[in-house]
Amino acid sequence: MKYSTVLPLLALASNVLAAPVHEHHQHKRAVVYVTETLVAWVDSNGNPVTPSTTATSTTAAAVETTSTAAAATTTSAAATIASAEAKVQTTSTSSPSTTTLSTSTSSSSSSTSTSSTSSTSSTAAAATTTSSSSSGGINGDLSDFESPSSDFEDGTIKCSDFPSGQGVIALDWLDFGGWASVMNENGDTSSSCEDGYYCSYACQAGMSKTQWPSEQPSNGISVGGLYCKGGYLYKSNSDKSTLCEWGNDSSDAVNNIDESIALCRTDYPGSENMVVPTLVEAGSSKPMSVVDEDSYYTWKGGKTSSQYYVNDAGVSVEKGCIWGTDGSGIGNWAPVVLGSGYTDGTTYLSIIPNPNNENAPNYSVKIEATEGSTISGSCSYVDGVYNGGSGSDGCTVAVTSGKANFVFY
Ligand SMILES: *[C@@H]1O[C@H](CO)[C@@H](O)[C@H](O)[C@H]1NC(C)=O
Ligand SMILES: *[C@@H]1O[C@H](CO)[C@@H](O)[C@H](O)[C@H]1NC(C)=O
Repeated sequence: MKYSTVLPLLALASNVLAAPVHEHHQHKRAVVYVTETLVAWVDSNGNPVTPSTTATSTTAAAVETTSTAAAATTTSAAATIASAEAKVQTTSTSSPSTTTLSTSTSSSSSSTSTSSTSSTSSTAAAATTTSSSSSGGINGDLSDFESPSSDFEDGTIKCSDFPSGQGVIALDWLDFGGWASVMNENGDTSSSCEDGYYCSYACQAGMSKTQWPSEQPSNGISVGGLYCKGGYLYKSNSDKSTLCEWGNDSSDAVNNIDESIALCRTDYPGSENMVVPTLVEAGSSKPMSVVDEDSYYTWKGGKTSSQYYVNDAGVSVEKGCIWGTDGSGIGNWAPVVLGSGYTDGTTYLSIIPNPNNENAPNYSVKIEATEGSTISGSCSYVDGVYNGGSGSDGCTVAVTSGKANFVFY
């Protein structure tokens, strides 16, 4: 089994007490690739701390999935090797050759600023109205932040039928009958939803799936989705009655260029393939999924956030929201990774380098506060250069009130 880990840590430095680190591991399986995510915690010097001590002032840090090919490339200031290694051992039978965490060093720079943003928010709002008119497809059936109106009823829908609607969207290009992935607790996969498998599904932009079993496999993989039993679908998390839920309305993806952009979120908990689409049409916007990390899925006690692989402009979701191949520039080889999550009163938004693809995307992207919002830090990726954070490790912004958008331009 091929295995490696590269962990560029993006810390919004300043007077930060601790930062969650999303650690990704990946394994190649017969059918799908599986990765695992974990939020570990480090202080502003990159030293590991335990999550229980970090309830006060925390900041997001993001860590990137990588493949073996890229393992050697991202090695900078390695301050937190210890914490990374501790987790690596739990998730793989083979030992990682390189485990490197690089910490952000721009410690004094993240002042709090209240930004007055130009026309972004108003254009965004206008564009959203037009794009949500479709009767479904990957845009879904709900308008932004409209609550699902009917509950999912256990044992009424056949495993061979995909439960579209109420925010659930079918991913037809994967050829799994609409499902994002079908996997059992041993990590076996199937191309159709069948007895004994978790059938993981995607939700429309801004929403996250609510279903995963609280009891997760001890081998470190994650499973999520509806459970197929006796030919019918059942909730795996009965605490939630609908299949999709909204995140915090604190960030949109705003596309100011003249081609569409496909953001591909990882199917998590589940296969972690980057197949969950958010298609932002030219001149349009879509909500990011800012998951409430305090109530969302945790992996071995660590909080998890949303991660998106973002393709070059003009790449369709069918072409881009799949597991790519070496050098393809799409899916896990896409030029940009974005992270979003909400914990303890603050939204954290990151632009994360993808060690699989260090080429500039054919746009620039910046995190920009909307008018009247309060953010700390700054973060952009302009002409292939990260601004904010420590530079090549990407950057993170904290939103303490209002909203900040990922603006593609
Ligand atoms: C960006 O790259 C994609 C993929 O190569 C291409 O289809 C698209 O036209 C390019 N768009 C721009 C604005 O350069
Ligand atoms: C959403 O996020 C913002 C900024 O992080 C925060 O101020 C607000 O309280 C959050 N709203 C909810 C409903 O959690």
